[in-house]
Amino acid sequence: MSFAATILTLYPEMFPGPLGLSLAGRALEQGRWSLDAVQIRDFATDRHRTVDDTPAGGGAGMVMRADVLARAVDSAPAGLPRIAMTPRGSPLTQTRVRDLAAGPGVAILCGRFEGFDERIFEARDIEPVSIGDYVLSGGETAALVLLDACIRLLPGVMGAASSGDDESFEAGLLEYPQYTRPVEWEGRTIPEVLRSGDHARIAAWRHARAAADTRLRRPDLWERYGGDPVQSPSGARRDSKE
Ligand code: ADE
Repeated sequence: MSFAATILTLYPEMFPGPLGLSLAGRALEQGRWSLDAVQIRDFATDRHRTVDDTPAGGGAGMVMRADVLARAVDSAPAGLPRIAMTPRGSPLTQTRVRDLAAGPGVAILCGRFEGFDERIFEARDIEPVSIGDYVLSGGETAALVLLDACIRLLPGVMGAASSGDDESFEAGLLEYPQYTRPVEWEGRTIPEVLRSGDHARIAAWRHARAAADTRLRRPDLWERYGGDPVQSPSGARRDSKE
């Protein structure tokens, strides 16, 4: 069974892009996943092939029209979960990626301009998804990110490396740090415990480092994991003002 990706975009030439190379590229050649990049403009009906219009209520930029988007979405294979890439969406997680990778594929709507006419989401059962709290110039690079995360989990794409329970997020923590030879480099040495051959000690060290790094870098993950609350400097300031 192959993973079917349909991308609805104004820039189909952006696909497969980087996913045509390396592991994803080989998997594409092997038929482990398939790609159909569809030009949204082909579903416009006027002479100028218009896909957008000015925002209702005023404001800057242009909005992608629901009627044109709907025809594009309706052309995608039935039975695929539908996702729209937008900074207004729910954050993409490894859990969602795993769910998607275990399914038949995905249809992804990529936005340009100021975004989509909001009515499209409910009317066509489309899940808005964001890849992070920053704004890209369009949804295409976000779609590549989502697809990359799914494809590496498909059977036969990465072998044992992607099935590891050690991976970042799999246990609710960031992954532990890695080292390789040379043992000494620019005066810095690989932690002694990793050279000890004592598997229990190594496992304990790795867990402790995963916890410490998560607490420091991702206090949000740390608190969800059940770690002690992390006091943020800005939080302290906010508290004293209140
Ligand atoms: N389109 C523009 N910015 C985006 C983001 N952060 N995530 C998903 N799609 C986007």
